[in-house]
Amino acid sequence: APDISVTNVKAHLTQLQNIATANGGNRAHGRPGYLASVTYVKNLLDAAGYTTRQQSFTYNGATGYNLIADWPGGDTANTLMIGAHLDSVTAGPGINDNGSGSAGNLEVALAVARTGFQPDRHLRFGWWGAEELGLRGSTAYVNSLTTAQKREITGYLNFDMIGSPNPGYFLYDGDNSDNTGSGPGPAGSAQIESTLAAYFTSIGVPTRGTDFDGRSDYGPFIANGIPAGGIFTGAEGRKTAAQVSLWGGTATTFDPCYHSSCDTTANINDTALDRNSDAIAYAVWTLAAGGTTPPP
Ligand code: PHE
Ligand code: CA
Ligand code: ZN
Ligand code: ZN
Ligand code: ZN
Repeated sequence: APDISVTNVKAHLTQLQNIATANGGNRAHGRPGYLASVTYVKNLLDAAGYTTRQQSFTYNGATGYNLIADWPGGDTANTLMIGAHLDSVTAGPGINDNGSGSAGNLEVALAVARTGFQPDRHLRFGWWGAEELGLRGSTAYVNSLTTAQKREITGYLNFDMIGSPNPGYFLYDGDNSDNTGSGPGPAGSAQIESTLAAYFTSIGVPTRGTDFDGRSDYGPFIANGIPAGGIFTGAEGRKTAAQVSLWGGTATTFDPCYHSSCDTTANINDTALDRNSDAIAYAVWTLAAGGTTPPP
């Protein structure tokens, strides 16, 4: 898998910050900063050769949008989906939550195009609207699929908050091996978790499990029996002394700017963003399998 440039990921975060600043300070559902965020991501993917689609839905009297981007090729009956919510809360620009996952996935999608990756599985990326109002966009997407279309999605990777300033390295506990109490996910979730875990083992960074309870956009996927997994660097919770020994940082909240106006480009741990973006690429390359088109 390619090494994802954290410089490039951060450049996307700067653009999302600028969009918020130009649109009343946020990128929330029903606000102009949200649609501008969709347009930013869509333009880059279109130019890279993705087939994109903007899916509209209505929530709370406002139109919301999901951006769906298919990478041409691969077995569509064995589709790997990679998603992140692109909306913020109204309180702030939402750079860690969830510019981070959105930008990491975007840079991985662009790396797929740049390297001419031709995976065995079909790849589809999704940027979800209105997660902050109750997973509305991802739910609308899954509900829009026929039973046959749902069956074609054989895995879903979710990235929501991957650059917290006082980070932990949490993997959704799809196998319940950490006894987070949220139970094993659909069969196949354990393989996703172990693939992400293998990356962190390779760079010598310990991971821990976190609740696989549906508190982000993988919820509607696992509710429909689709295996899922993902990374999370922590939100309003506090890092314990044991976790400080494991990961460094301080025994305070993982993200003191969670859902606040200070969730800006200053609210990012670059090392976590870099490691996690590289982990996304590793998981996509490993789980999708396949090779690279030689240059003509
Ligand atoms: N979905 C939460 C939010 O956007 C953050 C979160 C992500 C919580 C992953 C737990 C696990 O506010
Ligand atoms: Ca990197
Ligand atoms: Zn979030
Ligand atoms: Zn949030
Ligand atoms: Zn586990």
